Amino acid sequence: MVTAMHDISIALEAIRAGAYDYILKPFEKDQLHLSVRRALEHRRLVMDNRTYQNDLEMLVAERTQQLSIALQDLEQSYDYTLEALGGALDAKDAETEGHCQRVTAFTITIARSMGVDKAQLRHIARGAFLHDIGKMGVPDSILTKPGPLTAQERNVMRRHCDIGYSVLERIPFLKEAAEIVLSHQECYDGSGYPRGLKGEQIPLGARIFAVADTLDAMISDRPYRKALPITTAREEIQRFSGKQFDPKVVEVFLSHPDQLWLDLHEKVGGPFQLHELRA
Ligand SMILES: [Fe+2]
Repeated sequence: MVTAMHDISIALEAIRAGAYDYILKPFEKDQLHLSVRRALEHRRLVMDNRTYQNDLEMLVAERTQQLSIALQDLEQSYDYTLEALGGALDAKDAETEGHCQRVTAFTITIARSMGVDKAQLRHIARGAFLHDIGKMGVPDSILTKPGPLTAQERNVMRRHCDIGYSVLERIPFLKEAAEIVLSHQECYDGSGYPRGLKGEQIPLGARIFAVADTLDAMISDRPYRKALPITTAREEIQRFSGKQFDPKVVEVFLSHPDQLWLDLHEKVGGPFQLHELRA
């Protein structure tokens, strides 16, 4: 601002309005040049700073997006690996084909209705999916034996919970799933194995799984019998509420219509769908 008025309040107002300098008339040419040069330099710095900040923000946003995509890819790779593991068990134990998928879908459906959050849901899904992974360590002669097992064979079979746990517990992202695998044969009243846990000592995922597992076992064809009607499964699960099953889980299961379970049973037959069950 160039002026002949010697008034400090006008000078202040000009600066506030964005003037860089305040020059009184009459002025020297050099003084004006100097002031303009400094104003231009100041403006250049401000512009550079603004550009730098914008670039930086864009770079951070871009990198954040790349990171989140990479994390998602990684997470999905985990699940593909788990699905391959489950597929390997299916190949060994044909009786369970598609069982892991279906039981996972049932488990997730109940867990969601019980208000389980997304992060926990993922652990529960993985635990349900891998519940019988320890059967890899059970000899085929016992695993595929037609007819009833001897007491000793039954003991070997029962070790599949511990075997599964020891395989998974060392993998950090499967630690919580490992707990479900270890506890998937426990009963609400304490009559299950391997630790005879009771009530809420049993991880929630394992309590939900128990209902899902019985449901699938009953409404699927088995080598020795045809699938049973869902009403029979419903009655059976209700009858064992408070014994084998957590009454709260049973209640949630019963609150859904039969058709939902039948649809889920039909839909998730094939392998490699764990990642789709997560959302
Ligand atoms: Fe099992």
